[in-house]
Amino acid sequence: MKSEARQGDLKIEWAREHMPVLGEIRKQFDKDKPLRGHTIGMALHVEAKTAVLVETLAAGGAKVAITGCNPLSTQDDVVLALRKRDIPCYAKHDCSTEEYYHAIDEVLNHGPDVTIDDGADLIFKIHSDRKELIPDIIGACEETTTGVHRLRAMQAEGALKFPVIAVNDAKTKYLFDNRYGTGQSTLDGIIRTTNLLIAGKNVVIAGYGWCGRGVAMRAKGHGADVIVTEIDPVRALEARMDGYRVMPMKEAAKIGDIFITTTGNIDVITKEHFKLMKGGAVLANAGHFDVEINLNQLREMATDIREIRANIDEYVLGDRKLYVLGKGRLVNLATGDGHPVEVMDMSFANQALCVRYIIEHRGELENNVYSVPQEIDELVARLKLKFMDIQIDQMSGEQKRYVSGWKYGT
Ligand code: ADE
Repeated sequence: MKSEARQGDLKIEWAREHMPVLGEIRKQFDKDKPLRGHTIGMALHVEAKTAVLVETLAAGGAKVAITGCNPLSTQDDVVLALRKRDIPCYAKHDCSTEEYYHAIDEVLNHGPDVTIDDGADLIFKIHSDRKELIPDIIGACEETTTGVHRLRAMQAEGALKFPVIAVNDAKTKYLFDNRYGTGQSTLDGIIRTTNLLIAGKNVVIAGYGWCGRGVAMRAKGHGADVIVTEIDPVRALEARMDGYRVMPMKEAAKIGDIFITTTGNIDVITKEHFKLMKGGAVLANAGHFDVEINLNQLREMATDIREIRANIDEYVLGDRKLYVLGKGRLVNLATGDGHPVEVMDMSFANQALCVRYIIEHRGELENNVYSVPQEIDELVARLKLKFMDIQIDQMSGEQKRYVSGWKYGT
């Protein structure tokens, strides 16, 4: 039988084989060692693709220490494989809240000068309890929409004490990772966990941002009747014109078979909705934090709770039963393997190049949230196209003059 660490090794090898863009960056990093002398502290979902990012940063000469960014997304075999590579890794699957924050502290004990977060937990810890680290921090990268929102709020209050690059906001990140990544991996998590059919079901998707769009698209592809709930009028209109029904959650609650939250906000599904739901309804969250489905209220309403199948909790409410997947934590990672490998190839290529950018621009950046430089976004797209063996056209000189001028008319 394979040891757990060996199993982690093989998972990492599989991911690495399918991450050619990151592989190309790794070759460059290996040659130039642009991260030498730097320590990178990471709090990301510790699974195989993340391990390939860790290897890439280490190939660039950095010392790396890592922990998880969600108690249920850590894969312990990958943790062991990372430790075998002498990478300090403090993550543990299903850790307690106390263990989770202790692990964040352990990463910070390495004295990182660059951090990479998915949800901004390292950055918050540094700004609250570990302020002594701030003078040595050159900058940070943030992976996800939720983290970027929190960081922009910090910037608006003048509370941010070092520059951060919003990797989430690169086109080669959100257009693919948030849309196709969340779309596929959320459906994958729900299907592999429940073994239920999507076709013919009413699938209610809360939020029509890039994640919601991706999930809606894939649910429709499986034959679901998709219903979208929104608070933004433009997005609601867009969802309707994309072919979905749009209605308030109070209405959707009565008819939904599967509910998927993708809003990044609290209390999207609450007591008033649980009361209206049909028996057998399945509830899943695809947002970063487990705050979208109010499980405290559901617990209070339930007369019995049991785990009926791995990662499925059954809540008995009178003569009805509701089912919550992955304890309301992000379903694609808590019950699955996260986004498809090829998608994370682009997201993590952005991470690696942004870390190098931060180091190369040391002292030049203000304490603000920055967009990913366009040249990085474009490079990632060009590399991805190259590895997909796709060629594209180039503008002629005449075309460039036409699109950049204003004198051409009818
Ligand atoms: N795997 C590693 N990081 C991930 C993320 N942010 N989303 C989905 N899968 C991931």
